[in-house]
Amino acid sequence: MLYEKLVLPLLFRTDPEWIHGAGMSVLKIESLAKLIGNTVGPQGHPVKLWGLTFRNQLGLAAGFDKNAEIIPATYHLGFGFTEIGTVTAQAQPGNPKPRVYRLPEYRGLINRLGFPNGGAQDIAKRLKRLKASHDFHQFPLGINLGKTKVVDLEYAAEDYLASFKLLEPHGDFFVVNVSSPNTPNLRLLQSPEQLKKILVPLMEENRQRESKPVLLKIAPDLEPSDIDEILQTIQDLSLQGIVATNTTIDRSGVDGPDSHEAGGLSGAPLRDKSTEIIRHIHRATGGKLPIIGVGGVLTKEDYQQKLDAGASLVQTYTGFVYRGPAVVRHLLMKE
Ligand code: FNR
Repeated sequence: MLYEKLVLPLLFRTDPEWIHGAGMSVLKIESLAKLIGNTVGPQGHPVKLWGLTFRNQLGLAAGFDKNAEIIPATYHLGFGFTEIGTVTAQAQPGNPKPRVYRLPEYRGLINRLGFPNGGAQDIAKRLKRLKASHDFHQFPLGINLGKTKVVDLEYAAEDYLASFKLLEPHGDFFVVNVSSPNTPNLRLLQSPEQLKKILVPLMEENRQRESKPVLLKIAPDLEPSDIDEILQTIQDLSLQGIVATNTTIDRSGVDGPDSHEAGGLSGAPLRDKSTEIIRHIHRATGGKLPIIGVGGVLTKEDYQQKLDAGASLVQTYTGFVYRGPAVVRHLLMKE
């Protein structure tokens, strides 16, 4: 409450991307994150999925910790898992600024960051160092993979595979991201034909290694028939799950000074759309395909709605921005 009444109004006077950077600088100081974490405490109960134990079902969604810089803080703040990235094979700066906007009256954000990140090689090195110095308990690490902007769609498969080869030893599960609206034509990769081009070599490489869980992250702007085709592809290629959903390009119901900025909309306005997609996937797969539900989880009710729709795990990004460092307690605590 203190955060929302006093801190948030101050934070929201600053540039959104600058304050994210400042917040990251604070969270990089592990002792400080531990201190904040002690006041919010761990919550929830452990679940098992893909042979991994998650200490609770709430994770930090991709895009917050793009370069794997705040994994210890994410752990200390009580999350049950994290998903770093999106990581691309080549380091890249992302789109020109400004590229993040707040929609406070809707509890939403619009971003068109375009995967700024330090590249797979650097991030693999950071993860290796982290593993040598830390041992997180029941806290799986997901790695989200995307396409380098300057790489032609034609060579997307090689690009994803290059990242996967570098990062595979360091993650517990992998998410193939073909659903960001901010890399030109990326979402065209959601067609079954294009998906197979990327996923067949990646799954083959995975089989030759440790066969870690590979999931696909989809957009909320797909038609049910598109989703069914994707689910068929997931089954054909033996992927282990789906992340639903990424941000939306739909602006219905939002009308503010920045609501027509290009990019992906997240937060409360996305909630029901993403839940409907989760429900559809759960029904279509008879509950057999594990779903990570994400989109507009800002309250305990939102969190429960995702689980009721069939999600095995839940993530939040915009909820962390609007609810602050006690977000895990807000969403998981039984009252
Ligand atoms: C994101 N998201 C995202 N997703 C992804 O797969 N890779 C990424 O790099 C990013 N980057 C990113 C940046 C920003 C500023 C936001 C707000 C979001 C999408 C995110 O993981 C999630 O799918 C959506 O934001 C919906 O969840 P929330 O934010 O409504 O909880």
